[in-house]
Amino acid sequence: MGKTETSSRSSDEFGAPRHVAIIMDGNGRWAASRGLPRGEGHRRGVEALRRTVRAAGDLGISYLTIFSFSSENWSRPAKEVSDLMVLLRRFIRNDLAELHASNVLVRVIGEREGLDPEIAKLLQEAEDLTRHNTGLTLVIAFNYGGRQEIARAARGVAEEVAAGRLAPQAVTPELLYRFFDAPDIPDPDLLIRTSGEQRLSNFLLWQAAYSELVFLPVHWPDFDRAALEKAIDEFRRRERRFGGLVAKTGS
Ligand code: IPE
Ligand code: IPE
Ligand code: MG
Repeated sequence: MGKTETSSRSSDEFGAPRHVAIIMDGNGRWAASRGLPRGEGHRRGVEALRRTVRAAGDLGISYLTIFSFSSENWSRPAKEVSDLMVLLRRFIRNDLAELHASNVLVRVIGEREGLDPEIAKLLQEAEDLTRHNTGLTLVIAFNYGGRQEIARAARGVAEEVAAGRLAPQAVTPELLYRFFDAPDIPDPDLLIRTSGEQRLSNFLLWQAAYSELVFLPVHWPDFDRAALEKAIDEFRRRERRFGGLVAKTGS
């Protein structure tokens, strides 16, 4: 005991993170180092994702957000983009029933407008089918960019102001956040990036304000439960202050 009540930004009494976000990076390098096509790295990346979802559930994590495709990833060669789209469609088609049976609730963040209608439909189906599940919440960041999400929220606020329903003075960080893609989901406690790169690449820019960042040298296709536990151990050793002086109180 001796700790302040848990809030949306603190972790549970064992120091486990409530919300883990992952930048699943390094598929291409994993493949290249084995003389395999990049697509094979992405395919093996989906297997790592399956393992990770299971491990996150077992470890009592409440929210797992995964960066599956960024707003900027469209700039990759057409063949690679199409490989990634095939894998996403396959993941939802093949795994949705199992995710649902495991009581996983699926949410999707990112720009939906302009998406391939078949993909948009699958994403919607995943959300609809699992809406009432009470286990792990799996947040899929697809066609996602942090700056784009902030701009969408700003547009939502601007529309309310223009319509006379909102006074400019009422715009606070909390109010703006209500216009984000998943405003009911707490900020990530722990943000992991695999592959050794140490940058956010436009992922959860707003939400990661006080996340603990852990960079692992492993490429995503090699990520497993042990790697997740290692990141969580590192998280437990961190002292979170939220700008204050007392660790882990968030105030
Ligand atoms: C992450 O692996 C998957 C996506 C970005 C969709 P990469 O494809 O970025 O792999 P590297 O970084 O080139 O090794
Ligand atoms: C971030 O990785 C996007 C995803 C993991 C989906 P990238 O590989 O696209 O990022 P950069 O280009 O190395 O910054
Ligand atoms: Mg990469």
